[in-house]
This record gives sequence, C-alpha cells and structure tokens, in this order.
Amino acid sequence: MKKTVLVSGGAGFIGSHVTVELTQAGYDVVIADNMSNCDETNYKGVCAILGRQLPFEKIDFCDSAAVEALFSRYTIDAVIHFAAYKAVGESVDEPLMYYKNNLDSFLNVLEAARKHGTHVLFSSSATVYGEPEKTPVTEESPRQEATSPYGNTKQMCEDFLRDCVKAYGMHGIALRYFNPIGAHPSALIGELPRGVPNNLVPFITQTAIGKRECLSIFGNDYPTPDGTCLRDYIDIVDLARAHVCAVTRMIEERMDKPYEIFNIGTGRPLSVLELVTSFEKVNNLKLNYRIAPRRPGDVVAIWADPTLANEKLGWKATRTIEETLASAWAWEKHLAGRA
Ligand code: WQD
Repeated sequence: MKKTVLVSGGAGFIGSHVTVELTQAGYDVVIADNMSNCDETNYKGVCAILGRQLPFEKIDFCDSAAVEALFSRYTIDAVIHFAAYKAVGESVDEPLMYYKNNLDSFLNVLEAARKHGTHVLFSSSATVYGEPEKTPVTEESPRQEATSPYGNTKQMCEDFLRDCVKAYGMHGIALRYFNPIGAHPSALIGELPRGVPNNLVPFITQTAIGKRECLSIFGNDYPTPDGTCLRDYIDIVDLARAHVCAVTRMIEERMDKPYEIFNIGTGRPLSVLELVTSFEKVNNLKLNYRIAPRRPGDVVAIWADPTLANEKLGWKATRTIEETLASAWAWEKHLAGRA
C-alpha cells in the first residue's frame, strides 16, 4: 500500500523540492501551507513537474484544531515539518513572533503525531553547531548557544522531538541542513526570497540578472585560504532526496534508535570567492562584486562530515557545484521571463 507523507510548508523552497522527490519515489504527498511566506509559484511548479494536481491544504500550523483535523482527515504515515519563519535578522528584531510561530506550530504537529502514530521528520540546521571548534562537524559535535531566536527555535524543536520520542514511544529524525542552494533542473521550482535576499546564492543570481547592482562579499580577512568564509553548499535536489531516505528509514522501521540526527551536506568546503568564481565560469558571465566589511554574526568556517547519512541513510550528495549553480541561474532566468 502506498504510504502518505504530510509536508508542512510544502509550498516553500525546500518543501516543494521534497514533495517532488517523495512523489517520484512512490509516496502520496499532502502539501499543507498557510502561504504566509510564499505565493503559488512553487505549488504550480510541483504540479507541472509531476503532471498532476497534488492535494493542497491551506492551514496555519499554529491552529491546533486545524492540525488535528488535518491528521484525522488523512491517514498520514509520516510528517515532514518545514512550516516556519526563517530569516535570522528578522528573528533578532521579532523574537516573540519567531518563538510563537516556530514553536507552537511544531508542538501542534507533535501532539497530532503522537495521537495518530505518525513518524516525524524535523528540518533542522547546521546553525545549531554555531562556530565549531573542529571542522568538519559530525552529529556528535557539540551544539553551541544560539546567536539568534531563529537558531534557538531550531535547537528547541530538536529537543521537543527528542523528548517526545523518549516519552511517548514515537519515532523521529532531525536533519541538519548545511547551506541549501540551487533549483530543480526543470527550473519550475526554486527559491523565492522576499525583498532583498540575505543568502548568498539568491543575491548572486539577482545581481547577475540586474535586479541588484552589486554583490557585497562580507569580509576577505578571515583566517581561511582566500580570506572569505567557508560553507558546505548542498544542492536542493540532493537535499530533498535525503528526506526520502529518512522517511523510508522510519516507515520501514530500520532506525538504530527511535530518535536520530543526520548532517545533510556534501563534506566539501567552498569559500565565498570560490562560489562566485564557479558561478561566473559555469554560466559564462561576469558578476559585479566588491569586498565589504564582515557581516556581524557570521561563522568563519563550517562544513559537514556526512558519513553517518552516507552509511545509515544510504544517501550521498551527487550533483556537482557547477550543475547546482547552473540550476540556480536557470531558475532566476525563468523568473525574469515570467515577470
Ligand atoms: C553564506 C556566506 C556570508 C550574502 C544562513 C543561516 C542559516 C540557514 C542558511 C536559513 C557567508 C556570505 C552572504 C551576501 C556574502 N538558514 N555572503 N554576501 O549565513 O551560512 O546561513 O542561511 O534558513 O541558519 O544562518 O548563509 O547564504 O547568508 O551566507 O558575502 O550578500 O556568504 O558572509 O559567508 P549562512 P548565507
């Protein structure tokens, strides 16, 4: 029998890619989103890629009655929870908004999952490691005190899941994403930042298309080979496939323990300058950029040791940085053609 996965925040950047990969792997997917941070672009793109309409439920996960009703309406085998606010800077200015939204929504998911015997996958972040003492980071590397309410909600939600699994006999997995970038090869779904992008790749593509005048590279005097920060940029389709592996592991009861954590990254550090140069080369263009002061709060260098995910999930990042950066550019051009 086909298994059903509920994807909260399924109309967003990561949720839409995960929906495509799950469906192509043979799962039935229910997309649920309150559309507070996106429009219908990605939902329509998902349906176009798959060639059919998927069930879509407009709900706010902070509404506990609505969440419970949703879990009663469908037989849901696993839920993947993406529905959350995600702007680091905004969370510093609006901590209550972030705590209320990101914590309440996940508590409601946990409550319904407990009642209905649903497996839970939580979308966590490498941000929980802060500035690591040792790189690459493994899942055993210590978490550091969060530097933003956003980061704090990721840590707190991991703990909620851990404790619920322990107390209620549930099963849960937290995936810690490194830096998700790129877009689906069809260029029909991708990242849609609101206003001026905070993240590097959307800023690059918007500069290349002429929406922004100049990319600022935040600092070139870091203690790294070329002086710019090091990150682990993970292709969005590779990242999405990790969710299929993790959901299947839960549903097929192949977990080593009822609560597991996996790093989802490539294991390959890349500097900001290397990324910019790759983008220029693969897309055959010149990017207008300048060196600017450091951005407060930036971690100097972090990348994943993805061995655990490779071995236990049977997952590995496969797309090259060139393919990924070409897909990011194709998506930006798709958006420009549409406008
Ligand atoms: C990457 C590198 C910047 C923009 C953040 C969150 C994390 C996660 C992903 C999301 C850094 C540099 C960036 C620019 C630049 N959360 N940069 N010029 O900071 O690693 O992670 O996003 O939902 O929790 O903290 O990603 O893409 O912002 O930055 O030079 O215009 O690019 O300094 O070194 P980051 P990023």
